[in-house]
Amino acid sequence: MEVVICKTYDEMSRKAAAVVADVVRTKPKAVLGFATGSSPLGIYKELIRLHKKEGLNFSKVTTFNLDEYVGLPADHPQSYWTFMHENLFNHINVPKKNVHVPSGTSKDHAAFCAKYEKGIRDAGGLDVQILGIGSDGHIAFNEPGSSLGSRTRLVTLTEQTVDDNSRFFERREDVPRHAISMGVGTVLEARKLVMVASGKNKASALAAAIEGPVTCMITASALQLHPDPIVFADEDAAGQLKMTAYYRWIQNNKPAVP
Ligand code: F6R
Repeated sequence: MEVVICKTYDEMSRKAAAVVADVVRTKPKAVLGFATGSSPLGIYKELIRLHKKEGLNFSKVTTFNLDEYVGLPADHPQSYWTFMHENLFNHINVPKKNVHVPSGTSKDHAAFCAKYEKGIRDAGGLDVQILGIGSDGHIAFNEPGSSLGSRTRLVTLTEQTVDDNSRFFERREDVPRHAISMGVGTVLEARKLVMVASGKNKASALAAAIEGPVTCMITASALQLHPDPIVFADEDAAGQLKMTAYYRWIQNNKPAVP
């Protein structure tokens, strides 16, 4: 797995955004998987800059988001639909009809999830999926114990995730307990995975994910099973990794011919 240790959050974000931009330039009809939360905000800022200043064109792109809270309508201020529109979609030229964020308010969640999976398949599969990592090691909302073969489904958040995400809500009681989330199996089918991790509170989860055993208790460890994962971490998040000297060595000794 390629691990890129960056000095700052901004450097991490710019480098991760460059991978996504490359995919879009090479394949204008790319299918992009997006995440919410604090980690990818810098990526979105950079993608907006690349669109506005360098003409990065999203007009043929299709997007699928990882997850959404159950019970929050799309236009709720804390919904992930709102988050994505405010932080990315309203500022680039992706057609609104090509944007997919799971619905947290469908009448039949199982039927919705099956349709979401089919939507990804019919679009040709995800070319690249952006991921954050939870402090409990989750990717999307695949909490410890989630099957590594899981698909898009209704999940119950852990108390830790509810605590972590309460910073976005007025009161802890307002944080939904359930979400619709792509499964680990869904994520692993993306052709490329780009994970970003920032801050000391991610250090132990990141070390377990990258250097520990593959386990459903740290669903981010499933990246070890993927053919093309790349992890960008700032120095705080990389603080508990054991192989940092080698990761830096790799970055400084890239083969001349790829
Ligand atoms: C969000 C998501 C989550 C977050 C994770 C980290 O769509 O899928 O897995 O990536 O909880 O969140 P932040 O970046 O806010 O620390």
